[in-house]
Amino acid sequence: MAAQPITHIPCILLCIFAWVCHAGKTSPYVRSTDASIDMPAHAFPPPRGNNTPEQVHITQGDRGGRGVMISWVTPLQPYPNIVRYWKANDPDKTVHETYSRITSYRYYNYTSGYIHHANIKKLEYETMYMYELGKGDAIRQFSFKTPPKVGPDVPYTFGIMGDLGQTYASNSTLEHYMANPKAETVLFVGDLSYADDWPLHDQTKWDTWGRFVEKSTAYQPWIWTPGNHELDFAPEIGEYMPFKPYVHRYHVPYRQSGSTSPLWYSIKRASAYIIALSSYSAYGKYTPQYNWLEQELPKVNRRETPWLIVLLHSPWYNSNNYHYMEGESMRVMFESWFVKYKVDLVLAGHVHSYERSERVSNIRYNITDGLSTPIKDQSAPVYITLGDGGNIEGIANSFTEPQPSYSAYREASFGHAILELKNRTHAHYTWHRNQDNVAVVSDSKWFFNRYWFPKYESV
Ligand SMILES: [Fe+2]
Repeated sequence: MAAQPITHIPCILLCIFAWVCHAGKTSPYVRSTDASIDMPAHAFPPPRGNNTPEQVHITQGDRGGRGVMISWVTPLQPYPNIVRYWKANDPDKTVHETYSRITSYRYYNYTSGYIHHANIKKLEYETMYMYELGKGDAIRQFSFKTPPKVGPDVPYTFGIMGDLGQTYASNSTLEHYMANPKAETVLFVGDLSYADDWPLHDQTKWDTWGRFVEKSTAYQPWIWTPGNHELDFAPEIGEYMPFKPYVHRYHVPYRQSGSTSPLWYSIKRASAYIIALSSYSAYGKYTPQYNWLEQELPKVNRRETPWLIVLLHSPWYNSNNYHYMEGESMRVMFESWFVKYKVDLVLAGHVHSYERSERVSNIRYNITDGLSTPIKDQSAPVYITLGDGGNIEGIANSFTEPQPSYSAYREASFGHAILELKNRTHAHYTWHRNQDNVAVVSDSKWFFNRYWFPKYESV
C-alpha cells in the first residue's frame, strides 16, 4: 500500500505535461449515433399550379454585392423565363424585369426540368427587394435584402453550414439556423443533396433538396462550395462529366473574379473577401485553380475587405478518423500562401462532426528536415470543420486520441455556426449544436483580424 503513491507520480506528471502542452477540448457531448434517414419525397411536394417555379435559390451575382443571381426550375415548359422585382418600400412599386437563361441536363435515365438563372444587376445597397416568378395560377413571390456597400468596418453576419443532405437531422439544422435571425447570408462548405448515395445517383434527390432548402435559399444568398457529393462521376452508367448536375443547377459569379471555372471563385461582401476552392479539381502547380489562386491572393485589399475567409470542402486540419488526411495534398500546395497572406479563417466540411483548430501552420517541412509537426503560428488561419449538417451518412464520432495539439475544440454532433463580423478588428463566432429540439451554443470565440489586429489567439 505504501508504494501506491509513488506509482501514481509518473501518471500525475504525464497529466500535468499533457495539460501544459495541450489545452484542446473534446466535448463530452456526443449526439445519438442513430442513422439519420432522408425525409420522404412527399415531404417536399412541388408547389401548386401549372408549371409553377420551384427550387428557388439565390446567390451573390456579382463581385461586390449589387447583383443577385436568382435560380429556379420550371417542370413542364421553359416559359415564362422572367423575374419581376421591385423595392419593398417603393410606394409606386416600380417593377423591373430580367430574363433568365435556361438550361437543362440529362443524367442516365433522368431529364431535369428547365433550370433558370437570372442575374439582376446594379441593385441598391442595403435594400429590401421583392421578386416574383411564374404567371397565372403559378405566381410565387419572395424577397431578399442586398448587403451594405463593401467597406472595412461594415458589420455583417454569416451563417455557416455544410454536408446538409435532406434527413430529419438536416431539417433540424436548417430550422435552427433559420430561427436565428442574425445571419443574412450562408457560407455553404459543400455536399448538398447526397443524391449520389442513392442507386443510379437518383437525380430526383437534387429536386427534393432544392425544394427542402427553398425556405432559406429563396430569401437569402447561399455562397456555394463544391464537395465530393457534387461530383456525380459515374462511368459505370455512362456519366463521365464530373459536377454535371451541380454546375447546371448552382451558378456562381466566377468570371467576375477572373476564374475560368464555377468550381473556384471569389466575392466581396460587406467587410469580407471570400474565396471558394474546389477540393476535387486539380490544384497542382500549373493547373488552372493553382494559377488562379496564385494571382488571386495578392489582389485582396485588406484595407477594403479586412476579413479573408476561404471555403473548401476537405479539411486540412481535423482529428477525426473519418477522412483523416484527405485534405493533406491541398494543404501542401497552398498552406504557405495562406500564412503569407494572413487568411483569417478556413471553413471546411466533409467530416461529419464539429472541430475548431488553433492558429497553426506546418510549412517548415522540406522532406529532409524532419520538421513535420504543426506549430502555433499567429499568421496562420483558424481551421473550422463544419461537416455537421446532418446528412444520411450519420455522425463521425471517432476522434483520434490523444487530441492533437492543433485541435482546440471538437464535438461529435450536428449543428450550424454564426460568424458576426463586427468591424475591421473583431469577429464573434458561435457554433450551435442540435440538441433535441433546441440549438445550444456549444463553442464560441472572438476572432481578431490577422491584418489589423493580430493579437495572440489560442484555444
Ligand atoms: Fe464530403
